Amino acid sequence: MTQAKVQRQPKRQKRFILAPSLLSADFGNLNNTLERIEKVGCKWVHIDVMDGHFVPNITLGPDLIKSLRRKSKLFFDVHLMIEDPLKYAQAFVDAGANQICFHREIYNRSLKRITLMIKSIAKKVAISVKPETPIDSLINVLPVVDMVLIMTVEPGFGGQKLLTPTINKVRELSLMRAEMDLDFLIAVDGGINEKNILCVYTAGADVIVAGSSVFEKDKIEENIKKLYEAVNKQILYK
Ligand code: DX5
Ligand code: ZN
Repeated sequence: MTQAKVQRQPKRQKRFILAPSLLSADFGNLNNTLERIEKVGCKWVHIDVMDGHFVPNITLGPDLIKSLRRKSKLFFDVHLMIEDPLKYAQAFVDAGANQICFHREIYNRSLKRITLMIKSIAKKVAISVKPETPIDSLINVLPVVDMVLIMTVEPGFGGQKLLTPTINKVRELSLMRAEMDLDFLIAVDGGINEKNILCVYTAGADVIVAGSSVFEKDKIEENIKKLYEAVNKQILYK
């Protein structure tokens, strides 16, 4: 008698988190922006930190995050595009970051050790890969991360076009996650809009970072609603 193969069910559930990226917001009006995205039902905000070395652009530091933290209850997903994330992780956590995301490309042999060190500081740790960095270079850290952020454009600037081959990386990672029976979130960042959001979501992304498509023409509420509707979700207004 052949025994029926028991299929193991993945323990995670499909999630949908829209994380507006402040990079495309009006930097002179950030408190009001956070209020608006919270009111429209978002729980997360994505904050891009750039040092002019890891990427050719400079944005903001812990002091600004600290002042935003005083007024907002949103989950601050801090994406560090800097050369020495370990050196600055504590400062960003003290400022109010809920999750620290750093780049895979910075570390090689010591990747797992550094990931665990950042996790011990931040509680929640995410690792990001540039479009050219293969997913299998993450295999050792997948069991310890809370999120993997797949860059769908070259990091550094908002308003770029999504690089289609990166969608395959989302699928690949989603399969690896199921095979390894892990529960980390998969995030995508760069060039996501009303037209391609469903495609990255069905490929396996749980967290969608969106800058220009949220802040375009300052129609934040309308733009967020369109993104939700494109994946057949409803926003829950406060
Ligand atoms: C780019 C940043 C992104 C950026 C996305 O390096 O990591 O978070 O703000 O912006 P859009 O959605 O306009 O591509
Ligand atoms: Zn980002």
